[in-house]
Amino acid sequence: MSSDPYDEIVRNWSPEERIQFPRERHSHFPEIDSTNRVLLEEIRSGNTSPFDLVTADFQTQGRGRRGDRWEAPAGRNLLFSLAIPLPNDPTQWSRLPLITAYHVGRAIESVLEPGQILQAKWPNDLLFHERKLLGILVETSSQENAFAAVGVGINVNLRDNELPVPLRKTATSIYQIFGCESSRWYLLSLILRNFLGDTSSIVGSFTEAKVWFTERDFLLGKSLRIRSGNRWIEGIGSGIGEGGELLLRGTNENLFEIVSAEEIQGAYRA
Ligand code: BTN
Repeated sequence: MSSDPYDEIVRNWSPEERIQFPRERHSHFPEIDSTNRVLLEEIRSGNTSPFDLVTADFQTQGRGRRGDRWEAPAGRNLLFSLAIPLPNDPTQWSRLPLITAYHVGRAIESVLEPGQILQAKWPNDLLFHERKLLGILVETSSQENAFAAVGVGINVNLRDNELPVPLRKTATSIYQIFGCESSRWYLLSLILRNFLGDTSSIVGSFTEAKVWFTERDFLLGKSLRIRSGNRWIEGIGSGIGEGGELLLRGTNENLFEIVSAEEIQGAYRA
């Protein structure tokens, strides 16, 4: 288990890429409560720069969406949180989970067999053969000109028997796809490269991410029941809107724009 994976992450990078992501941007912890918690604290202190990165081999209180816990055995999975600057227009912020899925998903697809593609389940799950491969948790601080803490947990070297029994039929890992171990840090180097560049355009330009997500949209055409806040909404998954919202066509042909959902029923085969 490496104690400082920075050199491995930037090994194949150009000098320009290394300038955007110097060593002091990166903090690695063999064990920490949550990389998102650490990065959010840094964001609140006002000392954040774009692409500040926190990685861990093991989290004692990994956070999942909807207040769930996110657990992984030590050293198996890629666990990281990345600081992404948010644009002034908050209506664009809900694009970030899908943009993250796009950058992470392209990196993973680049190491899969030619023709193998992921499925993208709104807002930010990536699946392989209908099984969840990774989780994304975007958390924001309440400050103006804030950064988001983009937290990602990818099942890289996780074995089937290391998953809790209820998840064995619904989750997968890169190890299970390839049948052998892969380098977590090489995968992270591919992901970071996709994020680097003009920081103002990460959330501002959504066109390519939207096309990528739509081509893999797992909910498209499915008959869905969605709990958003206190109400259930029924309809057919009908694509992604400009703000990253899920479009759902109701029975009267009316179009719902769902910004957040607590539960999605009907996505999987019964
Ligand atoms: C989900 O519920 O699908 C999202 C899971 C996100 C887990 C990652 S692991 C790294 C980062 N730190 C956390 O505490 N959570 C995210």
